[in-house]
Amino acid sequence: MPISDNVLIPEVYQINNLLHLSHYVVDGQLKHWEGPSSEVRSTILTPNERGEMENTLLGYVPQMTEKEALHALESAANAYDKGRGAWPTMKVGERIRCMEKFVLQMATKRDEIVKLLMWEIGKNLNDSEKEFDRTIEYINDTIDAYKNLDRESAKFDKVGGVRAHIRRGPLGIVLCLGPYNYPLNETFCLLIPAIIMGNTTIFKPAKFGVLLIAPLLEAFANSFPKGVVNVIFGRGREVAAPIMKLGKIDALALIGHSSSAVALQDLHPNKNRLRLVLGLEAKNPAIILPSADMSLTVSECISGTLSFNGQRCTALKILYIHEDVKDVFLKQFCEKVDSLRLGMPWENTLLTPLPEPHKPDYIQSLIDDALAKGAQILNRRGGERSSNFIFPAVLYPVTEDMKVYHEEQFGPVIPVKSFSDLNTPINEISESNYGQQVSVFGTNTEELAPLIDILVNLVCRVNLNSACQRGPDVYPFTGRKDSAVSTLSVNDALRAFSIRTFLACKDNEINKNILRTMLQERQSNFVSTDYLL
Ligand code: G3H
Repeated sequence: MPISDNVLIPEVYQINNLLHLSHYVVDGQLKHWEGPSSEVRSTILTPNERGEMENTLLGYVPQMTEKEALHALESAANAYDKGRGAWPTMKVGERIRCMEKFVLQMATKRDEIVKLLMWEIGKNLNDSEKEFDRTIEYINDTIDAYKNLDRESAKFDKVGGVRAHIRRGPLGIVLCLGPYNYPLNETFCLLIPAIIMGNTTIFKPAKFGVLLIAPLLEAFANSFPKGVVNVIFGRGREVAAPIMKLGKIDALALIGHSSSAVALQDLHPNKNRLRLVLGLEAKNPAIILPSADMSLTVSECISGTLSFNGQRCTALKILYIHEDVKDVFLKQFCEKVDSLRLGMPWENTLLTPLPEPHKPDYIQSLIDDALAKGAQILNRRGGERSSNFIFPAVLYPVTEDMKVYHEEQFGPVIPVKSFSDLNTPINEISESNYGQQVSVFGTNTEELAPLIDILVNLVCRVNLNSACQRGPDVYPFTGRKDSAVSTLSVNDALRAFSIRTFLACKDNEINKNILRTMLQERQSNFVSTDYLL
């Protein structure tokens, strides 16, 4: 049985065959890729034939070029056909049937995808399974939400002598780019609503978590009409940039770093025509008040800062602790951090190898900078290094001149500040470039209530005695300032990827007769009062 970092790998999770991803989806077909491919290596180390530990080779992915990218764009443009295509004009019920066909096939790929999530991004087994199951649930919930939306639109309004039949219509062509930390779930939270609302799409997977899309390519190709879903592989600057430059993209859907979002936006020649649906950086703070229940607070701050090694946009990335409880909190918190074990994903540890090769060095640089400017590492094991990991360091006191105060670390390091005046964290949060969420820990309602009243205006979700998180996915997920553009959730995403459009007419006999005939004869896919059950 192979070993990884000296741990035996259960047979079911072993990589026995290399996965050569040699297809992509354009024009509704699985196209064979003949060009160059790049290696996909896991951050997880296993012995090679010489017995030396090395990053496990998982397979190969196509390295596509501008040519294939523009072919995908042409395919999406033909399918949209300036709003005349079969997909954007199709009955809602028929689009839903295509999505149902896709999700049924996807559900059969659970084991393959979960295993690849573990190897490609180092996410632990429970979280990988959760990511898969949550995505299936998201798709099914999206189908139900669309049925509801459609039902609510199956009517005519009459105001000021004008009748109106108002629905939501597609935007056009959507370019979809997801993040490596949720390569399935967050990408699909963009892609699925974009597709179902009648848009045509081009989807390029993130930098890690690419092979796990392979088991779904056939389902993409056989579930939707030609050109509705195009899946390409390669580097953003090789494939996404040429697509943006032509100005034919109507919506850029991206979860990732603002530098990528801004660079792509800048390439679009008609910026006012480009709708943005973006989930970007965050630096979610926790505020710990003197009245906080310590054991609950410590446990929420552990999962908040360190689940998936802190590689979540919703992770707690700075802790503000009241002076009165600083010592007791930090003692318990540091003990808990030091008791965490680094393990392989199938061992279900909170800490797992980091998928980005440069990440340990980057986190080290944040630690070094903070130490040089007066912080200390409070926990015994903080900063311990291995080739693909760095043990979380609790850094205190962190000051505004430190890099770790400003930068979104997206990894295992925990900056801590203390305060005696509540205005300190409030002012700092209001000055921050980010505005996604905050966690507040306390039990004194006289202190909590006015604080909540302010914080809801600085961020978009205040978590009371709970770590920050995106789910449940029916709740709005958004942010202020540099953290997001637009709102995602099962319901909100349907709105984000569509626009209200309607038929209006003066309320006279001629028009009433036309409408009656159209409805009775079911002549239009748009003008319809049929209900979807
Ligand atoms: O990376 C950012 C994710 O949206 C976080 O989602 O809170 O469900 O882990 P989560």
